Amino acid sequence: MKWNPDSVLNVLGQTSYVDDIPEPRDLLHAAIVPSPSAHGRLVRLETSEASARFPKAIFLSAADIPGTNQIGNAVPDEPLLCDGEWHFRGEPIALVLAESRSEARRAAALVRVEAEELEVITDPREAAARGELILPPRTMRSGDVEKAFAECAYVVEGRVDSGGQEHVYLETQGAIAWPGEAGGVRIVSSTQWPSGVQKAASRVLGVPMNRVEVETMRIGGGFGGKEDQATPWGCFAALGARLTRRPVKIYLNRHEDLSYTGKRHPYSSDFKLGLDKEGRILAFEADYYQSSGGCADLSPAVLARTLFHALSAYYVPNVRVTGYLCRTNLVPFTAFRGFGAPQGIFVVESAIAKAAEATGIPAVDLQCKNLLSEGDTFHYGMPVEECRTDQSVARVLEKCDWNGLQKRIASFNGYNHLKKRGAAMIPLCFGISFTKLMMNQTGALVHVYNDGSVTVNTGAVEMGQGVGRKIAIITAKSLGAPVDRVRIESTRTTTVANTFATAASSGTDLNGMAAQLACAQIKERLLAVAAEQLSQSDAQQHTGAKAADISCEISNGEVLRSGKPTGLKWDDLVAKAHESRVDLSAHAFYSTPGLFYDDQNEKGSPFAYHVYGAAVVTATADILRGTYTIDEAFMVHDAGEPIDLLVDIGQTEGGFVQGLGWAVLEDLRFDREGKLQADTLSTYKVPDVHFVPKMDIEFLDNAPNPKAVLNSKAIGEPPLMYAIAGYFAVLNALKAARPDTEGFYDSPMTPEKALTFLTELNDAHPGWPLGASGAAGDSARRHSGVGRANS
Ligand code: MTE
Ligand code: HPA
Ligand code: MOS
Repeated sequence: MKWNPDSVLNVLGQTSYVDDIPEPRDLLHAAIVPSPSAHGRLVRLETSEASARFPKAIFLSAADIPGTNQIGNAVPDEPLLCDGEWHFRGEPIALVLAESRSEARRAAALVRVEAEELEVITDPREAAARGELILPPRTMRSGDVEKAFAECAYVVEGRVDSGGQEHVYLETQGAIAWPGEAGGVRIVSSTQWPSGVQKAASRVLGVPMNRVEVETMRIGGGFGGKEDQATPWGCFAALGARLTRRPVKIYLNRHEDLSYTGKRHPYSSDFKLGLDKEGRILAFEADYYQSSGGCADLSPAVLARTLFHALSAYYVPNVRVTGYLCRTNLVPFTAFRGFGAPQGIFVVESAIAKAAEATGIPAVDLQCKNLLSEGDTFHYGMPVEECRTDQSVARVLEKCDWNGLQKRIASFNGYNHLKKRGAAMIPLCFGISFTKLMMNQTGALVHVYNDGSVTVNTGAVEMGQGVGRKIAIITAKSLGAPVDRVRIESTRTTTVANTFATAASSGTDLNGMAAQLACAQIKERLLAVAAEQLSQSDAQQHTGAKAADISCEISNGEVLRSGKPTGLKWDDLVAKAHESRVDLSAHAFYSTPGLFYDDQNEKGSPFAYHVYGAAVVTATADILRGTYTIDEAFMVHDAGEPIDLLVDIGQTEGGFVQGLGWAVLEDLRFDREGKLQADTLSTYKVPDVHFVPKMDIEFLDNAPNPKAVLNSKAIGEPPLMYAIAGYFAVLNALKAARPDTEGFYDSPMTPEKALTFLTELNDAHPGWPLGASGAAGDSARRHSGVGRANS
């Protein structure tokens, strides 16, 4: 295995997370009193029973907040502690501080919340129908859809549902805060966004940001769940520390984390797709009802990414797509790997699958006919550049021997009555940059110590995605220092200020570039010192080149002169520079150039570049049981020039498998009262190692990306989208059992839905396949889905 500081230390158990920090002697533990229902109005908090049982416990409510009781970012609709109406089950009503974690929880459980119950809405379509929108609808358009539909040879319409998804980061939400001087605090938080925690805590405490320091060493996974939603927990710890002048820790157990925190947004959508006789798509229309949950959180930005990715990797000249932020009384749904794009892409892929049924043209032919190519324009007005979709699709079809595969599947399906196979292809085009322009900025602070060791501070948070490893490599390359001399510091608001979350797959793009710029400053100074040194040794040997005339380079820990080793080593050069009173530290700032967007007209260039690729997935379904296996996945992916190949392969595998969880396995359901049904990991099923198919990953060769650091490309989220082909592979296997039946578009493709699809066929076709009669009764498929209560 290659040297990788964090992964080696992780394996040795030597990395430290929030719960590994030695607990100070005077530590208090915090727990929240959650709202007891999905929608209500707070009448009174009754703590007498809790106080009697736990006399030392401290109870804090909204009235105890010294600053502003508001932590919402996009929309100020998120009080830290409920001050009137609550909008979801598990919303924090009060905070309890006690001497132990268990005491805090037990005391919280004894607090009585007297409430006026209000009506609960869990279905986004119902919320939209009642005008319960968090912000007005948003529409992107190009061309003229009305005119285009009139000219289409085929028009298909339909409905698509996709379920939410729980992040299941290994480290649950948590933070510790220590009281500081002058009303300040120091917070260690498991967050993707330390500056966000800092800002919110400063507001809640009513102190300037320079009184709040937030540090994140690394986090045990985030997947978007700690972009905004680590903030309340950091603020609770800070509030407790400020009011008691003792350190305070809050750390959720899994059940609490599952019950109280946001997840991927469920969506329910309608589409209309029009094609000409040859199968070219002329027009696409869609309405996306996003179940946003009880408050805005990141929902507007997530919806924006859905609209930007509505056409995925296809070119369509006439488009109208509208998104609705539907306020449902469920946990506030939030960022999750893909950030709204998977939900949008599933809709257009479903539309194409339906068009394949209507036209008799195979889906893969429709897909290939309509791929984006160089010179096209996205519906939001950005030109398509360095397009590598067609190349990826051609390669993946060749790699899996698509035609041969189809024949093998047909022959398998011909011989087998109880098992059927299916395959599906999906192209990829994913935009890189935060869709909110302002967020595309960060800084770096690099110190070279006088022994030659290097420390890098940036806004990047390591969450297992390898951003630290990549920045270490970038730093080593930029300085010419050996990579094992570089250490990545924990992320701290006091070393690099005013950053945004490590998210949008842009952690390395932004922070790596800032580190590179800081290193360039130090390197320039070191090169001057090196030239001086070399000119002095020239003088000793009476060859006499002036320092200014010497061209040198530093590479792999040694100074080179005209490309040849000089014997002057990195450590000695740094020591010399220090002796000569040269500044060995530098700060740099990076903001992505060239981004602009006109919100009024919904046109612009919101992304620095796009990531392309394609995948083929195969599956086998058990026709009697509705169970299936995902067998193989072929991925051809545009990773630019990877900074660390192993990290990028890991991200591709991990993203794909996590996507499979969303597309076919993880069943996030709420009942009519807005209560999460599978609220432990014994009932909420995520992919395990046995579920993972054989994966064949190929990165495109010769694919430099001049728009990002060292010609690399962002990798964190895009491969997740390949998993959508897993849904269609299973659907195609099921349809092989009854080719004349229409498919359904309701993810995840659980065995229950598969079996319902098959048993409905049984009812319609008695005697098929073995005369078994349909047993499922009520249709699980019809009764499940987005935010809808299931029977
Ligand atoms: N990989 C691991 N191991 N753990 C994570 O939490 N988060 C994903 C992705 N890969 C994540 C991960 C998400 S949602 C994003 S946006 C990116 O990593 C963020 O990191 P990057 O910008 O450095 O790629
Ligand atoms: N991606 C991820 N996180 C974000 C984004 C985005 O585009 N915008 C705001 N937060
Ligand atoms: Mo990732 S959803 O942008 O944290």
